[in-house]
Amino acid sequence: MTVISVIVGSTRQGRFSEKPAHWVLQHFKDRGGVDPRLLDLRDFPMPFFDQPVPPAMPDRPPYENEVVKKWTAEIARSDGFIFVTPEYNYGPAAVLKNALDWVYPEWNRKAVAFVSYGGAAGARGVQQLRETAIELQLAPIRSSVHIPAAVLWAHFQGGDVDAGLADLSGQYTTNRAAFHANSGGCPMAPFCYTNPYTSNRTHPWPDSRPRNTSDESIQLRRGRLMDHRRDARPRRRSRDSLTETWCPDHSAGIG
Ligand SMILES: Cc1cc2nc3c(=O)[nH]c(=O)nc-3n(C[C@H](O)[C@H](O)[C@H](O)COP(=O)(O)O)c2cc1C
Repeated sequence: MTVISVIVGSTRQGRFSEKPAHWVLQHFKDRGGVDPRLLDLRDFPMPFFDQPVPPAMPDRPPYENEVVKKWTAEIARSDGFIFVTPEYNYGPAAVLKNALDWVYPEWNRKAVAFVSYGGAAGARGVQQLRETAIELQLAPIRSSVHIPAAVLWAHFQGGDVDAGLADLSGQYTTNRAAFHANSGGCPMAPFCYTNPYTSNRTHPWPDSRPRNTSDESIQLRRGRLMDHRRDARPRRRSRDSLTETWCPDHSAGIG
């Protein structure tokens, strides 16, 4: 079964990250059809990267640090990832970046989606992570979940974080049928699912727009899209062929 690992992206005392991480994990459990796992960086206290040979060096020997070995094995067994990340000074927490830096081939050709939070909903942290993900040959999914600052505020004020997350889940539940109807079985759903309005497998989440998910309707809208594309500037590769590779279920497209 496809393994999706949810990575808890901060380790500090009193952190918020574990709450959205468990929330996402539960969504994957409810969804079924995938093997979701939680990778908590507190369980992988790796040193700052200090090796003479970079992880991407071809044919390098495995690193000897026992925690790094354990971490690398977890990445190797995963098919896709959700990074749950705070924003620390416009980037991800150093502990997450370090965990990314220790591994290379085991990240390659796998999908990653992001759940973030912070004063600006963690958007800038995700932006930096997307660039890092590309260098790791991960395939970052277009859509991400940016938790509203009010939910983070509730965490610091002793408020009801679960209620805030449940509110986001409400939007998810409203659209669950549509997500599943459109996901084509993609294990990254609800992060990655067929969007009849624009292209094959990307769409913002959560999204409360009502939609008609019948096959006929999807074909009709795709037809309209193709009409539109014929009038547009020619593209080298269709967007569908690019986005198809973001989905582990369709990884044959990666090559
Ligand atoms: C070192 C540090 C830097 C931060 N920088 C930012 C920032 O640039 N933008 C932002 O929106 N929030 C920033 N914050 C606020 C964090 O996003 C917020 O404290 C969040 O709870 C941290 O995640 P955590 O609780 O899971 O560790 C920063 C917090 C810390 C500790």
